[in-house]
Amino acid sequence: MTNGERLAVDVAGLHFQNPIVLASGTAGYGVELADVIDLDTVGGLTTKAVSVEPRAGNPAPRVAELDEGMINSVGLANPGLERVKSTYVPWLATHLPRTRKLVNVVGNVVEDYAQVVAELDASAESIGRGAIDGFELNVSCPNVKAGGLEFGADSAALQRLIRLARAETSRPLFVKLSPTLPDIGAVAKCAVDAGADGLTLVNTLPGLAIDVERRRPVLGFGSGGVSGPGLLPVGVLATWRVSRAVDAPLIGVGGVTSATDALQYIIAGASLVGIGTAAMRDPRAPTRIVRELDAWCARHGVRSLGDLVGTLEWRPR
Ligand code: FUM
Repeated sequence: MTNGERLAVDVAGLHFQNPIVLASGTAGYGVELADVIDLDTVGGLTTKAVSVEPRAGNPAPRVAELDEGMINSVGLANPGLERVKSTYVPWLATHLPRTRKLVNVVGNVVEDYAQVVAELDASAESIGRGAIDGFELNVSCPNVKAGGLEFGADSAALQRLIRLARAETSRPLFVKLSPTLPDIGAVAKCAVDAGADGLTLVNTLPGLAIDVERRRPVLGFGSGGVSGPGLLPVGVLATWRVSRAVDAPLIGVGGVTSATDALQYIIAGASLVGIGTAAMRDPRAPTRIVRELDAWCARHGVRSLGDLVGTLEWRPR
Protein backbone atom coordinates (compact mmCIF):
# COMPACT_ATOMS: atom_id res chain seq x y z
CA MET A 1 0.00 0.00 0.00
CA THR A 2 1.35 3.44 -0.87
CA ASN A 3 1.38 6.60 1.14
CA GLY A 4 -1.13 8.04 -1.37
CA GLU A 5 -3.72 5.56 -0.19
CA ARG A 6 -3.28 5.37 3.55
CA LEU A 7 -2.46 9.00 4.34
CA ALA A 8 -5.08 10.65 2.12
CA VAL A 9 -7.97 12.43 3.83
CA ASP A 10 -11.06 14.24 2.58
CA VAL A 11 -11.83 17.33 4.62
CA ALA A 12 -14.62 19.84 4.06
CA GLY A 13 -15.06 18.58 0.52
CA LEU A 14 -11.35 18.85 -0.30
CA HIS A 15 -9.02 15.94 -1.03
CA PHE A 16 -5.68 16.13 0.80
CA GLN A 17 -3.02 13.64 -0.33
CA ASN A 18 -1.82 13.50 3.27
CA PRO A 19 -2.76 15.35 6.49
CA ILE A 20 0.36 17.54 6.75
CA VAL A 21 -0.28 21.23 6.13
CA LEU A 22 2.24 24.06 6.28
CA ALA A 23 0.93 26.48 8.91
CA SER A 24 0.39 30.13 8.06
CA GLY A 25 3.62 32.10 8.26
CA THR A 26 5.93 29.23 7.34
CA ALA A 27 5.71 29.27 3.55
CA GLY A 28 4.86 32.82 2.53
CA TYR A 29 2.49 32.48 -0.41
CA GLY A 30 4.11 29.31 -1.74
CA VAL A 31 6.52 30.72 -4.30
CA GLU A 32 9.02 31.71 -1.59
CA LEU A 33 9.61 28.04 -0.70
CA ALA A 34 9.21 26.56 -4.16
CA ASP A 35 12.95 26.19 -4.75
CA VAL A 36 13.61 24.86 -1.24
CA ILE A 37 11.24 21.90 -0.94
CA ASP A 38 8.81 20.09 -3.17
CA LEU A 39 5.64 21.66 -1.80
CA ASP A 40 3.54 19.38 -3.96
CA THR A 41 4.32 16.53 -1.57
CA VAL A 42 2.54 17.99 1.47
CA GLY A 43 -1.19 17.81 1.97
CA GLY A 44 -1.73 21.54 2.14
CA LEU A 45 -0.22 24.96 2.44
CA THR A 46 -1.69 27.87 4.38
CA THR A 47 -0.47 31.25 3.15
CA LYS A 48 0.72 34.13 5.28
CA ALA A 49 -2.05 36.54 6.20
CA VAL A 50 -3.80 38.70 3.63
CA SER A 51 -5.36 42.01 4.68
CA VAL A 52 -7.20 44.58 2.58
CA GLU A 53 -4.32 47.05 2.71
CA PRO A 54 -0.61 46.16 2.83
CA ARG A 55 0.79 45.92 6.35
CA ALA A 56 4.39 46.81 7.15
CA GLY A 57 4.31 44.71 10.31
CA ASN A 58 6.04 45.21 13.62
CA PRO A 59 9.51 46.67 14.26
CA ALA A 60 12.53 44.34 14.29
CA PRO A 61 13.48 42.07 15.85
CA ARG A 62 10.36 40.11 15.00
CA VAL A 63 11.53 36.64 15.92
CA ALA A 64 13.66 35.24 18.73
CA GLU A 65 14.72 31.68 19.36
CA LEU A 66 13.90 30.15 22.71
CA ASP A 67 15.63 27.11 24.23
CA GLU A 68 12.99 25.00 22.57
CA GLY A 69 10.82 26.88 20.15
CA MET A 70 10.51 30.54 19.38
CA ILE A 71 8.61 33.74 20.00
CA ASN A 72 7.48 35.93 17.11
CA SER A 73 5.80 39.23 16.60
CA VAL A 74 5.65 39.77 12.86
CA GLY A 75 2.54 41.92 13.09
CA LEU A 76 0.71 40.32 10.17
CA ALA A 77 3.08 41.90 7.67
CA ASN A 78 1.75 41.24 4.17
CA PRO A 79 1.64 42.84 0.72
CA GLY A 80 -2.12 43.45 0.78
CA LEU A 81 -5.04 42.19 -1.26
CA GLU A 82 -4.23 43.84 -4.62
CA ARG A 83 -0.69 42.49 -4.71
CA VAL A 84 -1.80 39.03 -3.64
CA LYS A 85 -4.38 39.04 -6.45
CA SER A 86 -1.94 40.26 -9.07
CA THR A 87 1.13 38.23 -8.08
CA TYR A 88 0.40 35.29 -5.85
CA VAL A 89 -3.00 34.04 -7.00
CA PRO A 90 -1.70 33.57 -10.59
CA TRP A 91 1.31 31.67 -9.25
CA LEU A 92 -0.85 29.44 -7.09
CA ALA A 93 -3.16 28.81 -10.04
CA THR A 94 -0.34 27.32 -12.09
CA HIS A 95 1.66 25.50 -9.40
CA LEU A 96 1.21 22.79 -6.78
CA PRO A 97 -1.67 20.88 -8.38
CA ARG A 98 -1.56 18.18 -5.68
CA THR A 99 -1.39 20.46 -2.64
CA ARG A 100 -4.50 22.09 -1.23
CA LYS A 101 -4.10 25.86 -0.77
CA LEU A 102 -5.70 27.73 2.11
CA VAL A 103 -5.42 31.52 2.38
CA ASN A 104 -5.07 33.03 5.85
CA VAL A 105 -7.26 36.16 6.13
CA VAL A 106 -7.01 39.05 8.63
CA GLY A 107 -8.73 42.40 9.06
CA ASN A 108 -8.99 45.52 11.17
CA VAL A 109 -12.78 45.26 11.22
CA VAL A 110 -15.08 42.31 10.59
CA GLU A 111 -16.03 43.60 7.14
CA ASP A 112 -12.39 43.39 6.00
CA TYR A 113 -12.49 39.59 6.22
CA ALA A 114 -15.46 39.40 3.88
CA GLN A 115 -13.81 41.78 1.42
CA VAL A 116 -10.60 39.74 1.28
CA VAL A 117 -12.53 36.49 0.91
CA ALA A 118 -14.83 37.92 -1.77
CA GLU A 119 -12.06 39.39 -3.90
CA LEU A 120 -9.75 36.39 -3.62
CA ASP A 121 -12.62 34.03 -4.37
CA ALA A 122 -13.50 35.99 -7.51
CA SER A 123 -9.85 36.19 -8.48
CA ALA A 124 -9.43 32.41 -8.18
CA GLU A 125 -12.60 31.87 -10.21
CA SER A 126 -11.31 34.04 -13.05
CA ILE A 127 -7.64 33.00 -13.00
CA GLY A 128 -7.87 29.34 -12.05
CA ARG A 129 -10.12 27.60 -9.56
CA GLY A 130 -7.20 25.60 -8.14
CA ALA A 131 -5.42 28.75 -6.99
CA ILE A 132 -7.36 28.75 -3.74
CA ASP A 133 -9.09 25.79 -2.15
CA GLY A 134 -10.28 27.45 1.04
CA PHE A 135 -9.77 30.19 3.60
CA GLU A 136 -8.52 30.34 7.16
CA LEU A 137 -10.02 33.27 9.07
CA ASN A 138 -7.38 34.37 11.55
CA VAL A 139 -9.05 35.68 14.71
CA SER A 140 -6.21 34.79 17.02
CA CYS A 141 -3.01 36.72 16.26
CA PRO A 142 -1.59 38.03 19.56
CA ASN A 143 0.76 40.51 17.85
CA VAL A 144 -1.38 43.43 16.73
CA LYS A 145 -3.22 46.19 18.56
CA ALA A 146 -6.37 45.71 16.48
CA GLY A 147 -7.67 42.87 14.37
CA GLY A 148 -6.10 40.08 16.36
CA LEU A 149 -7.39 38.15 19.29
CA GLU A 150 -10.43 40.31 19.98
CA PHE A 151 -12.69 38.90 17.24
CA GLY A 152 -12.17 35.37 18.47
CA ALA A 153 -12.92 36.41 22.03
CA ASP A 154 -16.20 38.17 21.20
CA SER A 155 -18.79 35.64 20.10
CA ALA A 156 -21.12 38.21 18.53
CA ALA A 157 -18.32 39.78 16.48
CA LEU A 158 -17.01 36.35 15.54
CA GLN A 159 -20.38 35.18 14.30
CA ARG A 160 -20.90 38.35 12.28
CA LEU A 161 -17.42 38.07 10.78
CA ILE A 162 -18.02 34.46 9.75
CA ARG A 163 -21.52 35.12 8.36
CA LEU A 164 -20.21 37.98 6.22
CA ALA A 165 -17.33 35.89 4.90
CA ARG A 166 -19.63 32.86 4.40
CA ALA A 167 -21.86 34.93 2.14
CA GLU A 168 -18.91 35.60 -0.18
CA THR A 169 -17.66 32.10 -0.93
CA SER A 170 -18.66 28.50 -1.32
CA ARG A 171 -15.08 27.45 -0.58
CA PRO A 172 -14.43 25.95 2.87
CA LEU A 173 -13.86 28.38 5.73
CA PHE A 174 -11.64 27.40 8.65
CA VAL A 175 -11.43 29.63 11.72
CA LYS A 176 -8.12 29.78 13.60
CA LEU A 177 -8.59 30.12 17.36
CA SER A 178 -6.33 31.17 20.20
CA PRO A 179 -5.28 28.82 23.00
CA THR A 180 -6.08 31.63 25.45
CA LEU A 181 -9.86 31.28 25.03
CA PRO A 182 -11.35 30.23 28.38
CA ASP A 183 -13.93 27.96 26.71
CA ILE A 184 -12.55 27.10 23.28
CA GLY A 185 -15.23 24.47 22.68
CA ALA A 186 -18.01 27.05 23.09
CA VAL A 187 -16.27 29.47 20.72
CA ALA A 188 -15.78 26.70 18.18
CA LYS A 189 -19.48 25.92 18.37
CA CYS A 190 -20.33 29.58 17.77
CA ALA A 191 -18.07 29.55 14.73
CA VAL A 192 -19.63 26.42 13.26
CA ASP A 193 -23.15 27.72 13.96
CA ALA A 194 -22.26 30.87 12.00
CA GLY A 195 -21.10 28.89 8.97
CA ALA A 196 -17.50 27.83 9.54
CA ASP A 197 -16.64 24.49 7.95
CA GLY A 198 -13.79 23.72 10.31
CA LEU A 199 -11.45 25.04 12.99
CA THR A 200 -7.70 25.47 13.22
CA LEU A 201 -6.33 24.87 16.72
CA VAL A 202 -4.25 26.67 17.90
CA ASN A 203 -2.47 29.94 17.24
CA THR A 204 0.56 30.93 19.32
CA LEU A 205 0.43 31.58 23.06
CA PRO A 206 1.09 35.22 24.09
CA GLY A 207 4.42 35.65 25.85
CA LEU A 208 7.18 38.08 26.75
CA ALA A 209 10.93 37.45 26.41
CA ILE A 210 13.14 39.93 28.29
CA ASP A 211 16.73 40.93 27.52
CA VAL A 212 17.94 41.19 31.11
CA GLU A 213 21.01 43.31 30.24
CA ARG A 214 18.87 45.99 28.64
CA ARG A 215 15.79 45.25 30.77
CA ARG A 216 13.74 45.52 27.65
CA PRO A 217 11.67 43.10 25.62
CA VAL A 218 13.70 41.08 23.15
CA LEU A 219 11.16 41.71 20.39
CA GLY A 220 10.60 45.10 18.80
CA PHE A 221 6.85 44.97 19.48
CA GLY A 222 7.36 43.88 23.07
CA SER A 223 5.23 40.80 23.53
CA GLY A 224 4.90 38.01 20.98
CA GLY A 225 3.46 34.59 20.27
CA VAL A 226 5.23 31.52 21.65
CA SER A 227 5.43 28.40 19.50
CA GLY A 228 7.42 25.20 19.34
CA PRO A 229 7.38 21.94 21.30
CA GLY A 230 5.96 23.50 24.49
CA LEU A 231 2.79 24.37 22.58
CA LEU A 232 2.13 20.73 21.62
CA PRO A 233 0.14 19.63 24.69
CA VAL A 234 -1.72 22.96 24.72
CA GLY A 235 -2.83 22.47 21.13
CA VAL A 236 -3.64 18.80 21.61
CA LEU A 237 -5.89 19.57 24.59
CA ALA A 238 -7.64 22.36 22.66
CA THR A 239 -8.14 19.98 19.72
CA TRP A 240 -9.61 17.31 21.96
CA ARG A 241 -11.94 19.81 23.67
CA VAL A 242 -13.16 21.22 20.37
CA SER A 243 -13.63 17.74 18.91
CA ARG A 244 -16.10 17.07 21.71
CA ALA A 245 -17.93 20.36 21.17
CA VAL A 246 -18.46 20.33 17.40
CA ASP A 247 -18.89 17.89 14.55
CA ALA A 248 -16.53 19.63 12.13
CA PRO A 249 -13.07 18.91 10.75
CA LEU A 250 -10.12 20.24 12.71
CA ILE A 251 -6.59 21.29 11.80
CA GLY A 252 -4.32 20.73 14.79
CA VAL A 253 -1.32 23.08 14.94
CA GLY A 254 1.33 23.77 17.53
CA GLY A 255 4.62 22.18 18.44
CA VAL A 256 4.68 19.34 15.93
CA THR A 257 8.19 18.13 15.12
CA SER A 258 7.61 14.44 14.37
CA ALA A 259 5.05 11.90 13.20
CA THR A 260 4.26 10.94 16.78
CA ASP A 261 3.47 14.58 17.56
CA ALA A 262 1.18 14.70 14.52
CA LEU A 263 -0.48 11.48 15.66
CA GLN A 264 -1.29 13.08 19.00
CA TYR A 265 -3.35 15.71 17.19
CA ILE A 266 -5.00 13.08 15.00
CA ILE A 267 -5.92 10.86 17.93
CA ALA A 268 -7.23 13.95 19.76
CA GLY A 269 -9.56 14.66 16.84
CA ALA A 270 -7.71 16.54 14.08
CA SER A 271 -8.06 15.43 10.46
CA LEU A 272 -5.18 17.66 9.36
CA VAL A 273 -2.00 18.69 11.16
CA GLY A 274 -0.18 21.99 10.67
CA ILE A 275 3.59 22.31 10.89
CA GLY A 276 4.82 25.75 11.97
CA THR A 277 8.02 26.36 13.92
CA ALA A 278 9.59 23.05 12.86
CA ALA A 279 9.20 24.09 9.22
CA MET A 280 10.85 27.43 9.90
CA ARG A 281 13.81 25.65 11.52
CA ASP A 282 14.01 23.09 8.72
CA PRO A 283 11.84 23.55 5.62
CA ARG A 284 12.18 19.82 4.94
CA ALA A 285 10.52 18.90 8.25
CA PRO A 286 6.99 18.64 6.77
CA THR A 287 8.05 16.19 4.04
CA ARG A 288 10.04 14.20 6.62
CA ILE A 289 6.96 14.00 8.84
CA VAL A 290 4.86 12.75 5.89
CA ARG A 291 7.39 9.94 5.37
CA GLU A 292 7.48 9.15 9.09
CA LEU A 293 3.69 9.00 9.24
CA ASP A 294 3.58 6.61 6.33
CA ALA A 295 6.21 4.39 7.96
CA TRP A 296 4.31 4.45 11.27
CA CYS A 297 1.10 3.40 9.52
CA ALA A 298 2.94 0.61 7.72
CA ARG A 299 4.45 -0.64 11.00
CA HIS A 300 1.11 -0.56 12.78
CA GLY A 301 -0.97 -2.03 9.97
CA VAL A 302 -3.04 1.14 9.64
CA ARG A 303 -4.80 1.05 6.27
CA SER A 304 -6.23 4.57 6.52
CA LEU A 305 -4.88 7.25 8.82
CA GLY A 306 -8.38 8.74 8.90
CA ASP A 307 -9.44 5.74 10.99
CA LEU A 308 -7.36 7.13 13.87
CA VAL A 309 -9.03 10.55 14.00
CA GLY A 310 -10.62 11.12 17.40
CA THR A 311 -9.77 7.71 18.81
CA LEU A 312 -8.40 8.93 22.13
CA GLU A 313 -9.39 6.57 24.90
CA TRP A 314 -9.93 8.90 27.81
CA ARG A 315 -13.01 9.78 29.75
CA PRO A 316 -12.11 12.56 32.15
CA ARG A 317 -13.63 12.18 35.61
O1 FUM B 1 2.72 38.37 14.08
C1 FUM B 1 2.15 37.68 13.24
O2 FUM B 1 2.09 37.99 12.06
C2 FUM B 1 1.50 36.45 13.72
C3 FUM B 1 0.39 36.01 13.20
C4 FUM B 1 -0.41 34.98 13.83
O3 FUM B 1 0.00 34.46 14.87
O4 FUM B 1 -1.49 34.67 13.35
